[in-house]
Amino acid sequence: MLKDDVLKLICREKDYISGEAISRKLGVSRAAVNNAVKTLRDEGYEIISSTNRGYHLTNSPDLLSKGSVSALLPDARSTCLHVFDSVGSTNNVLKDLAAKGAVSGTVVIADHQTGGKGRRGRSFASPSGAGIYLSYLFRPESGFDKISDLTSWTAVAVADAIKRAYDFEPQIKWVNDLLMNRKKICGILTEVSVEGESGLIDTCIIGIGVNVNESSFPPELSEIATSISIENGGRRFARPVLASEIIRSMDELTGNWPDSSYYLERYRELNITAGSEITAYPLKIENGSGRSGTAIGINDDFSLRVRFRDGSVEDLKSGEVSVRGLYGYT
Ligand code: BTN
Repeated sequence: MLKDDVLKLICREKDYISGEAISRKLGVSRAAVNNAVKTLRDEGYEIISSTNRGYHLTNSPDLLSKGSVSALLPDARSTCLHVFDSVGSTNNVLKDLAAKGAVSGTVVIADHQTGGKGRRGRSFASPSGAGIYLSYLFRPESGFDKISDLTSWTAVAVADAIKRAYDFEPQIKWVNDLLMNRKKICGILTEVSVEGESGLIDTCIIGIGVNVNESSFPPELSEIATSISIENGGRRFARPVLASEIIRSMDELTGNWPDSSYYLERYRELNITAGSEITAYPLKIENGSGRSGTAIGINDDFSLRVRFRDGSVEDLKSGEVSVRGLYGYT
């Protein structure tokens, strides 16, 4: 849309940019530029204009749009970036695009999801104007064996993006929840499709949900979940900044895949599960009961080494763990 391109140019210019320069760069009329600026002002962008100098952005609302996110990325990056106000699930939208041949690196972002999906068939609360719901398409040229590492790499990539965008470091709870002050601020859901004949991976849809500016959570979530804003005394954070940093981190991750020691080292550094008392739940919970023990370390394949109370030591590759002291587990 023209307004996204106009916003991108105005955002990037530290000083004024003339209407003439915008219309020349975009190959559109001055009237079209004026209309786009009017639409942006209606959306809440504070753009001042001066007769001789042009337009200058003085304040931005916290809106996720193709313009606001791509203004912070290299030009070529906006070609496979799709930003929506509302979708069912960004993972599903991206799955459809992938089926139509979307390239690796395609990103879908939404301001709001009506059917946000969490792990194990749970839902993921996705209110509008608050979080970032982002799905990233990766088509690795590899078999299925290493793919469970991908979700741990993603946890590191998003943690690094948060550090660059907002200057604080989240913690990681095995396997891939990001926490702040011991409550969850981000969940990751990776959905993989494999070609039956060759066993090669066709698509990985990596879904990332970050609680950024939520001011509260429903009672059933408030023990477990928090937002970056709540943990910073209600200060609001610019979502386009984090969304663009997540894209940067994911581009870097897919460029490094599958060989890099960085992600394992960083995962161990940020992980708070190792060293804690845990209860492990297998993928299929039977009778709702888990096995308790002590998490003793993260193995090189990101599995969790646990010494159970009966003395046995096992490496958990999947499933979920409750960590004593987190999420109401005492
Ligand atoms: C979890 O913690 O259970 C995983 C949550 C993953 C949520 C994200 S939001 C973007 C993407 N679209 C979805 O429907 N889910 C993922």
